[in-house]
Amino acid sequence: MKVCVLISGSGSNLQALIDARDEKRIDIDIVSVISNRVDARGLERANKAGIPTSILDHQGFADRNEFDRALAVLISAGNPQLVILAGFMRIIGPGVLDPFNGRIINLHPSLLPQYRGTDTYQRALDAGDREHGASIHFVTGELDGGPVISQVRIPVLAGDNKHTLAARLAPMEHKLFVSTIKFFTQHNVESGDSEVFVDGSKLQQPLLLHDETLS
Ligand code: GRF
Repeated sequence: MKVCVLISGSGSNLQALIDARDEKRIDIDIVSVISNRVDARGLERANKAGIPTSILDHQGFADRNEFDRALAVLISAGNPQLVILAGFMRIIGPGVLDPFNGRIINLHPSLLPQYRGTDTYQRALDAGDREHGASIHFVTGELDGGPVISQVRIPVLAGDNKHTLAARLAPMEHKLFVSTIKFFTQHNVESGDSEVFVDGSKLQQPLLLHDETLS
């Protein structure tokens, strides 16, 4: 399966995917990595792994639509079957959503539908939640609002702050990320308006890491 990965920062999830590819735990071709930030560390990771990279600095565009159109052209060049947002800190609009309808997924650090947007760790702590986690969902026009495909849950521990919580979630997020993309290589995963279909059947609830399906 050909995939294109969009990043803005560290790219630790991208690294997990590269490692899984190199160790042949997953059968994917990462055709390109695109960053909207020139200083994204993930670009170095991709270069080191021999993956073509592009930088599309959003600051060079007059408006969001123009940026989206240019982004769609870059993505199309690799002809990917799946577009993966891994720490890509831009909201994308119709210029990208339309040509890749139902083929864009995003990793978000919360148990969606809770805590769309930013600062999810602190918001979970402030609410006194006993669990936090990460979700992978199809991208729609609504911020962090598309159908949820998979999740990982971790307990919030006494004394946790947003840094300890984020540090504990990160390795689980990496596992969820790789397992879910692997699931895409093995099944036909499709997006409905608000639901996910796997091999033609509606998913009753998000796939959970550690369930048999994702392991
Ligand atoms: C992850 O926490 C992900 O949930 C969020 O951005 C972060 C990306 O981290 N969307 P990295 O760039 O993969 O290290």
